[in-house]
Amino acid sequence: MVEHTTNQESDFTDLQAKAKVNNLNFYYGSFHALKQNNFPVYANKVTALIGPSGCGKTTLLRCFNRMHDLYSGNRYEGEIVIDSVNILERKVDPIEVRMRIGMVFQKPNPFPKSIYENVAYGLRVRGDKKRSLIDAKVEDALKAAALWDEVKGRLNQSAYNLSGGQQQRLCIARALVTNPEIILFDEPTSALDPIATASIEDLITELKNQVTILIVTHSMQQAARFSDYTAFMYLGELIEFDETKQIFAQPTHKQTEAYISGIIG
Ligand SMILES: Nc1ncnc2c1ncn2[C@@H]1O[C@H](COP(=O)(O)OP(=O)(O)O)[C@@H](O)[C@H]1O
Ligand SMILES: [Mg+2]
Repeated sequence: MVEHTTNQESDFTDLQAKAKVNNLNFYYGSFHALKQNNFPVYANKVTALIGPSGCGKTTLLRCFNRMHDLYSGNRYEGEIVIDSVNILERKVDPIEVRMRIGMVFQKPNPFPKSIYENVAYGLRVRGDKKRSLIDAKVEDALKAAALWDEVKGRLNQSAYNLSGGQQQRLCIARALVTNPEIILFDEPTSALDPIATASIEDLITELKNQVTILIVTHSMQQAARFSDYTAFMYLGELIEFDETKQIFAQPTHKQTEAYISGIIG
């Protein structure tokens, strides 16, 4: 086992942890995919998860909204504490967790519905019925996702008519509409061209004013460009967590250094 870096408390005292991962282990059947992970997710900051392919980034991200519950044989051990509640506990309703913790995937995955209905979806699931309220929330979410001006005249068209970058912003609007506390992004720009990527990166930087962000990226440049904190993972272990500038300038662990200098990964 690798020693974990402990944060110098003094550097982090004015920060509020929105979530705390405590001794988290995760198993796909008998495969031990996450090993004793510990780190905080600070409120209104962007935290990046980096590490070589297969190290467990997606597995860790999916614990945060209980995605693994959808398959039998998966097992969590340990805690993800949000507002003093361990959201991994069986008595916590995963549907409610997913209202509070939104997710945006690698490939844009709009539903085969209109632009409007894609965004309204989470409100309808929640039971909202008032048309004027849904209209207002859809508009707010599309504005927050920097898509409103491009779609306001064609809300009833199919979401599939949008470009890839627009579809990804639509998926962000869909995640935002229920006012989540945290949004999880799993390599959200890997299917996009550089211009669409830049617009998503700008958007994520904007969004941290209203929501806490946890993002998986395989691009170290991307992590360095816009994240505030970075967690480096290797073979299911969380090797090092620190301010992004610290991780990239002066990593403490030799595996982190090897990864960011391109020796592993
Ligand atoms: N559904 C699954 N069942 C069994 N093993 C899985 C499953 N999904 C991922 N894994 C394994 O868990 C490890 C971590 O995978 P993943 O979280 O997807 O890595 P990353 O996102 O960092 O590339 C890998 O060894 C992968 O093969
Ligand atoms: Mg992944």
